Amino acid sequence: TSILVLHGPNLNLLGKREPKVYGSTSLKEINTLLNKRALSLGVKISIFQSNYEGTIVELIHQSLGKHQGILINAGAYTHSSLAIADSLLAVEIPAIEVHLSNIYKRENIRHCSHIAPIAIGQIVGFGANSYLLGLNALCDHISQ
Ligand code: DQA
Repeated sequence: TSILVLHGPNLNLLGKREPKVYGSTSLKEINTLLNKRALSLGVKISIFQSNYEGTIVELIHQSLGKHQGILINAGAYTHSSLAIADSLLAVEIPAIEVHLSNIYKRENIRHCSHIAPIAIGQIVGFGANSYLLGLNALCDHISQ
């Protein structure tokens, strides 16, 4: 099993960026935790971060025939990008949406996710652990 992990815009700044909201764990540390978890789950993961909507769309297209699941934190594109949502619909690969912060406790504009109606489910508010919970859930889903 191979899983694509996508980090969207501004997540390269994790650890330094608004630590009260997003925690002090860096993206590199999150990726190390994900790689360890993948190893113990016995799955392969490929991890990418991009600040560009089109790059994220292309990475989703390229996962066809390569990955059986997508774990995505689209950052602010969650709330704005029909293109990313459409690309997930197009490839028909099961996806789980994750967020470090609980987007439902925040500004109204963050309550809307274009990805949510397409995703298997959403995990929000657990900081870096949202990703690990998401990876577990995605692996469970794929193996069912
Ligand atoms: C985020 C939540 C988004 O609203 C925000 O734009 C982000 C990070 C999160 O992980 O909590 O960039 O996706």
